[in-house]
Amino acid sequence: MNMAFTTKTGPVETVLVPDASNQRAYRHALGGFATGVTVVTAMAGDVPIGMTVNSFASISLDPPLVMWSPAKSASKHPLFLQADHFAVHVLAAQQAHLCSAFSRGGSGFDAMPWSLSKNGVPILPQVLVRFDCHRTAAHDAGDHTIIIGEVLQSTDREGEPLCFARGMFGHFTRTA
Ligand SMILES: Cc1cc2nc3c(=O)[nH]c(=O)nc-3n(C[C@H](O)[C@H](O)[C@H](O)COP(=O)(O)O)c2cc1C
Repeated sequence: MNMAFTTKTGPVETVLVPDASNQRAYRHALGGFATGVTVVTAMAGDVPIGMTVNSFASISLDPPLVMWSPAKSASKHPLFLQADHFAVHVLAAQQAHLCSAFSRGGSGFDAMPWSLSKNGVPILPQVLVRFDCHRTAAHDAGDHTIIIGEVLQSTDREGEPLCFARGMFGHFTRTA
């Protein structure tokens, strides 16, 4: 059940207890947490695979651990679980087309320039940041799996990140 309140101090606030009947409103609440956008890639046999992901997060600096979570419903979920190595590409502000290419219905690696990293992972050129990872753990988590990787190498270039919130893309504007 959703309850909407109009307050004197601000816009309407929706209060809900997440359940099957209000998934859309709950997703809207989750979308209030702005994130960057990444494309996670790996090799499935001799086929490159990639997925647009915003569940990426840093976990630990020492050792350097990061995580992301693929949905169990994603067709590539079993392939990512089998991959020993993966790469997380953090997209720059002008790279929304990469986000679309690796989302549902996107063209993926078709007509996409890529090369193999020294760990045998398909990598995309010209991204803002890249983390080359070795998978160290996978944890069951509801309808997703949490994949944890140790960062073996990072690459980092100057530029603005692509941002995502409420289903929209945006970028930072410097205020000072
Ligand atoms: C901005 C954005 C972030 C996403 N983040 C995730 C994510 O963290 N985990 C996930 O499983 N799917 C995420 N998705 C959806 C997947 O990219 C998409 O469902 C997947 O590529 C579809 O794969 P399939 O068609 O092979 O099943 C995200 C999509 C977008 C546009």
